[in-house]
Amino acid sequence: MIKAVTGTKDILPTDIPRWKYLEQTVEKIFRNFNYKEIRTPIFEETSLFARGIGEETDIVGKEMYTFKDRSDTSLTLKPEMTAAVVRAYNEHSLGAQQSLVKLFYTSPMFRQERPQAGRFRQFHQFGAEAIGSKSPLLDAEMVQMAYEILVSLGLKNLTVKINSLGTPETRDKYKQLLKNFLIDKKDKLSEDSRRRFETNILRIFDSKVESDQKIIKDAPKLVDHLDEESKTDFEVVKEQLEKSKIPFQIDPALVRGLDYYTKLTFEIDSGSVGAQTALCGGGRYDLLIETLGGKSTPATGFAAGIERILLACENEKCFTVPEPTIDIYLIRIDSELESVVSELAGKIRKENLTVDYDYLQRSVKAQMREANKMNARYVLFIGGDEYKEGKMNLKNMSTGVEEKVSLIKFQELVEKLKFQ
Ligand code: HAM
Repeated sequence: MIKAVTGTKDILPTDIPRWKYLEQTVEKIFRNFNYKEIRTPIFEETSLFARGIGEETDIVGKEMYTFKDRSDTSLTLKPEMTAAVVRAYNEHSLGAQQSLVKLFYTSPMFRQERPQAGRFRQFHQFGAEAIGSKSPLLDAEMVQMAYEILVSLGLKNLTVKINSLGTPETRDKYKQLLKNFLIDKKDKLSEDSRRRFETNILRIFDSKVESDQKIIKDAPKLVDHLDEESKTDFEVVKEQLEKSKIPFQIDPALVRGLDYYTKLTFEIDSGSVGAQTALCGGGRYDLLIETLGGKSTPATGFAAGIERILLACENEKCFTVPEPTIDIYLIRIDSELESVVSELAGKIRKENLTVDYDYLQRSVKAQMREANKMNARYVLFIGGDEYKEGKMNLKNMSTGVEEKVSLIKFQELVEKLKFQ
């Protein structure tokens, strides 16, 4: 038997109601904040992500699904949406029509990571990008929007972490400070962190190795060395979050795994999902639009992992979705009435009601079992003596009450079915 590829997962019909509930909640909140939906292709030219996310990141360095197509073009299944959205923004000059473009998305993403609970190779993100304003109020709005979504799904065990990475100039100065601090401790760092010391020193903060954490704990903090503008913006974000009653922590180690960030970065963690705690992450990326060939334009955004959120919701028993039901199941009593049943089903469906019937020539008892399995609100028995008299028996499955309905007074039947 051929099985699904490691790290990918089928979303089965029984999973769908929870996914739909989440998607509808998310979309409603994005629309309340006046964000418009965008959809981009599943794959892009590899250079978009290499340039956008950064060559030295784990995503670009070791996680992308990259392949050559038959024209020898290097393509990559999208590992994230921000670079793709910016590509579309630049390509279609979206900024020319509107100075602030607010977009949201839901899409599968692909990263070849080691699969574990809450970590997949194909996973789904929803997220938002606001392109065109440098206002820290918009950064605060991103955190607020993400938090509101998680809270309205019923999640409780949440921690909002924020940090500022400043401007690239501040960061370069700070990197030198960090280098000076770590230089004589370098030999004690893990192999990964020693490599990061050379390639991407800030990522040492991401190390989960205990001895690395001990060393890095006393290192100078970037938030204490911010330029004036980043510092003021960070203050505004904090103030706004306080006003919106969003509890948050400042986490100076929150450097994020993508290179495009400037100023605010944030993550919202859950204590209910095991090791992969980040439900969402984001921040400001004022240089990315230009890096990808557009006009210099400030922007901010976030993305959240749907599988992880659903896992947290399941563990916290956040919401229950109603059992799927159908309006009516048609039970054929006489086998020669197959085509009558099928025709009636067609008529009922046109009335925007959910109807099903037996396609397997099963007995009346087996059809009844099927109706129960499908949670039918009503069953209609077609055949027998009633049918010869132009009548059918309609049974309300929740009350057990049966009544006769006329074959020719179809509208009467429809009215009964529509009456909840
Ligand atoms: P990210 O932190 O790489 O950010 O991903 C965002 C969220 O996607 C994570 O917090 C996590 O919930 C989910 N996620 C990431 N990798 C996996 C995986 N392998 N399996 C399951 N879930 C996963 C970004 O992607 C940025 N584009 C966010 C952003 C938007 N920044 C600015 N705008």
